[in-house]
Amino acid sequence: MDIEHPSRRTIVTLVAVALLSLALDLVFGVFRTVRPGDSDSLHAVESVPLPPPNEAGDVSVEAAISDRRSRRQYEIEPLERHELGQLLWAAQGVTSRTSGYRAAPSAGALYPLELYVIVGSSGVDGLESGVYRYRPERHELSKREPGDIQSHLRAAALDQESVEAAAIDIVVCAVDERTTRKYGRRGERRYVPMEAGHAGENIYLQAESLGLATVSIGAFDDDSVRELAGAPTNQRPLYIFPVGRRD
Ligand SMILES: Cc1cc2nc3c(=O)[nH]c(=O)nc-3n(C[C@H](O)[C@H](O)[C@H](O)COP(=O)(O)O)c2cc1C
Repeated sequence: MDIEHPSRRTIVTLVAVALLSLALDLVFGVFRTVRPGDSDSLHAVESVPLPPPNEAGDVSVEAAISDRRSRRQYEIEPLERHELGQLLWAAQGVTSRTSGYRAAPSAGALYPLELYVIVGSSGVDGLESGVYRYRPERHELSKREPGDIQSHLRAAALDQESVEAAAIDIVVCAVDERTTRKYGRRGERRYVPMEAGHAGENIYLQAESLGLATVSIGAFDDDSVRELAGAPTNQRPLYIFPVGRRD
């Protein structure tokens, strides 16, 4: 091919390929290598690797569904890092390296959810108390703020004891515009909350399978929870999942 003077046919072919890629990316998110919410890669933040997830547990999905309960009391005992990693993977982990698709379904594969982990003082073995963000593409945490803020999170969650008693709290936030730019109002009103439900049920079932305890918390002050998680103003918190060892 003459690079300096490409033929009309070459130009038409290149334009066609570019348009096809764009269409596939818009519909399926196929060619996106930097996934939504990966802004931490642009900043110097401390990364905390998580052990690779176990993709073949011992508990059947039927047993996990049948035994699942909302559990609000926890032992004062830390989780292990692999347990934290497993819970986050179940909620939003990447399950196909080729497509970037994740453990929970997402309208248009636009992945509007961001997970923050509030690690308390009885939190996670080998992990400092603080606020972390899960980065699904790398299956790692980025550390945002040090310090135990669970008592503040409890206050923001209408003083629900489970939030402070748990080893950790997973805060599920949503970046609505990732979905509304394609699906408009329907995306915000329906798809995004549906996706939080999918991720949340995965957290429940994974906790059950690991013999841990969790409960979905929907009653809280949105702005306070968002600020405590250190999430930007374009994110809305939809759920808190306290997780700990069973009492
Ligand atoms: C959208 C939603 C919000 C919820 N919010 C809370 C909450 O703020 N606090 C709480 O203790 N439980 C909360 N729950 C848990 C329910 O109370 C619980 O699912 C229900 O009692 C049924 O019990 P089970 O989950 O053990 O089957 C919530 C559940 C859902 C689905």
